[in-house]
Amino acid sequence: MPDHRLRIYDSMEGLLPDVDNPTPLVRINRVVPFEHARVYGKLEWYNPFGAVKDRIAANLIADAEERGILEPGQKLVEPTSGNTGMGLAMISNVKGYSLTTPLSSAIPLEKRIMLRFFGAEVLELDDDLCPAPGAPEGAIAKAHELAERPEFHMLDQYTNEANPGAHYKTTGPEIWKQTEGKVTHFVAGLGTCGTITGTGRFLKEQDPEIKVLGVHPQEGHDIPGVRSIRQLQQTALFLPDEYDELVEVNDDEAFGLCMRLNREESIIAGPSSAMALAGAMKLVPDEPGVIAVVIFPDNAFKYASSMSRHIPEMARDGGGGGGGGSPQERMMNTLIENTRATAGLTIDVEPAEEVIEAGGVFVVDVREPDEFTGGHIPEAVNMPLGEMSDYAAFLPEDHEAPILVVCQTGNRSLSGALFLTSLGYRNVRSINGGTHGWLVGGYPISTD
Ligand SMILES: Cc1ncc(COP(=O)(O)O)c(C=O)c1O
Repeated sequence: MPDHRLRIYDSMEGLLPDVDNPTPLVRINRVVPFEHARVYGKLEWYNPFGAVKDRIAANLIADAEERGILEPGQKLVEPTSGNTGMGLAMISNVKGYSLTTPLSSAIPLEKRIMLRFFGAEVLELDDDLCPAPGAPEGAIAKAHELAERPEFHMLDQYTNEANPGAHYKTTGPEIWKQTEGKVTHFVAGLGTCGTITGTGRFLKEQDPEIKVLGVHPQEGHDIPGVRSIRQLQQTALFLPDEYDELVEVNDDEAFGLCMRLNREESIIAGPSSAMALAGAMKLVPDEPGVIAVVIFPDNAFKYASSMSRHIPEMARDGGGGGGGGSPQERMMNTLIENTRATAGLTIDVEPAEEVIEAGGVFVVDVREPDEFTGGHIPEAVNMPLGEMSDYAAFLPEDHEAPILVVCQTGNRSLSGALFLTSLGYRNVRSINGGTHGWLVGGYPISTD
């Protein structure tokens, strides 16, 4: 029996959370502008393998074992955005199963490396950051294809009741006990929706007055683990009738608050945790007696590449010495900085829209194909940054032709503009703010 008092365990499985070994609740004091309401983050990186998904990984496997579905040495296959894969890989290691995880190549490199490190067979595919509805070449389709084979079994976190079941049995009871039944608002980000649906069901059974609030990112987002309204159509566990309210949070709000949580609260929360908290700050009333619990699914350590995309200064040192990293990286940073400062090589979204509206301009989107299909400037053609030289034939013959280059936020497009300039194009500009800025500006987006 695990001894939670002395924290002595026979194996890592003993560390899986429940009412006797809950993940911590920590009060948010500085970044939440409330006078009366008390807001707590529930730190799910205290799970044995570092994320909220460890709960469902354990319960999906336990449930399949109880139903006699898994053979000794069973091969599991599961499409995952990362955390479920890590939980399943580690529990499979303990139980002698193996795991194959089809996933999107847009998933942060750190997560793909760690999945392999944990022993999973990782299949990288062209797909949305969170597997896309009906993408035939996507992760979910690949998993279903493999699951057809007799040697494989797919637990399927998107339809399996053992997903919300894990939270009904553990997360809900933990919050009820930790708040001595005084919780008034429960807030969670939406991925498969196992967390919000399972925990919400348990808490509403204890007190139907408890508000269950869901937070989702915008279309074309870059927050790993969660889903936009369009992407939520893929999960059978998205049950908005069981929730009291939904709210959208954009990438800037999420990554901005993520940095504040780490710097002002010293809470090492990841981007989807900050997204959920930003949603709570929009929906939770600042009234006496209000106690809100927000799920913080995992920590920041797996998201360095996402942070450097959304908070560019993270990838450079403040010493003006041309930057950290390798000599090549420092040189590239200096080049980009000098280029960024070079008048005429960047343009803001509004004037860019006017130029495009006026016509006669070639728009190049240098993001990955999956990002492009997630939403792009209608006139844009997709030329992924790493493969731009392969598309030279499609570029205008006239080197004076006006070309606008765009990416997600304005960094990769600068490299693209530099590349085109190095090819001799003399009227090239990179759009500051990128597709995200275009979206926020309310300009039309195409998914064709
Ligand atoms: C980082 C992160 N945040 C949030 C979620 C959403 O949790 P759920 O799938 O229970 O809705 C996930 C799910 O994978 C996740 O990995």
